[in-house]
Amino acid sequence: MIRKGRVSTGIYGLDDLMDGGFRENTINIVRGGTGVGKTTFALQYSLYGLNRGEKVIYVSFEMSQEQILRDCRDIGWKEIEDHITEGNLKVIHLFGEDLTFPSLDLQEIVKKSIPTQNPRIVVDPLTYPTFYSEKEKRKSLSTIFQELRRLGTAVIVLEEPADGNQIQESSAMPLYLADTVIYLQNLGFGEMYDRTLRITKHRGSKHGEGLFPYSIETGFGIVLRPSEKQIERVKPKTKFDDKFKEAIEKAKSMGTLGELLAARFEALRKNWTSDEDPSQILALVLDEEKRRYGKRS
Ligand SMILES: Nc1ncnc2c1ncn2[C@@H]1O[C@H](COP(=O)(O)OP(=O)(O)O)[C@@H](O)[C@H]1O
Ligand SMILES: [Mg+2]
Repeated sequence: MIRKGRVSTGIYGLDDLMDGGFRENTINIVRGGTGVGKTTFALQYSLYGLNRGEKVIYVSFEMSQEQILRDCRDIGWKEIEDHITEGNLKVIHLFGEDLTFPSLDLQEIVKKSIPTQNPRIVVDPLTYPTFYSEKEKRKSLSTIFQELRRLGTAVIVLEEPADGNQIQESSAMPLYLADTVIYLQNLGFGEMYDRTLRITKHRGSKHGEGLFPYSIETGFGIVLRPSEKQIERVKPKTKFDDKFKEAIEKAKSMGTLGELLAARFEALRKNWTSDEDPSQILALVLDEEKRRYGKRS
């Protein structure tokens, strides 16, 4: 089921771990070393939208349209050619030099390319240090991100050293400014758990914790393989509903502010994914709110 206000990632198994997918009009970063599947992720995200009537603008610093087409054919996504012909997918091949600050604006390029509402936008990869002077860095990038958000929902690829547990300086700012960050890793031992995905940030949303194994499959691209336990952990639990109802009733008896509190309890009930009994939290909140409420009246 597609949730309102969410943009499906198109990655098999990922939306369920991300509260339905990316949030609309956000910047979503996919980071990781060479060969982990960042471009595959970006193409899969694009294709998902294209095959459902959406428009995509793909800013590529690495590969030409020809190279992208060839990669897509290899993985079994032949229809991408038709999407280009029909004008639904626009590939813009740029070189870092093209953007030497301030000659070309990323958001201007995107804006001019597809005159449509909320396209899927891809930047693969963000060659960040090449196009801003040190001093302008922060302002420029946050402005660009802000404008890209206005235009659509973006997936931005960050190329990082494979052993990069440490965050490079050049990556720190994009990661800080992004709404969502997904980290792909390949340990390279040729084992099932070699390739792992981690959601390190997902603003305004609940998300799966942990390392999710994935594989890259011909025809389908990135397929996550979370364990039963990992799936269980993000599933809302209804077994404590009576405890929540009890707290909601108590809150409602507290007057105007109580209504607010009741709504929050209801939101918590809907999002309760833990196997632990919420009674203690509910009692604590009720107790404190009661005291505060007493102070106000
Ligand atoms: N058809 C395919 N079947 C299986 N694996 C593939 C296929 N195509 C690409 N891959 C895997 O994807 C990797 C390249 O992914 P890519 O998205 O280009 O990485 P990145 O952009 O992170 O450098 C390759 O190393 C290969 O292991
Ligand atoms: Mg790539």
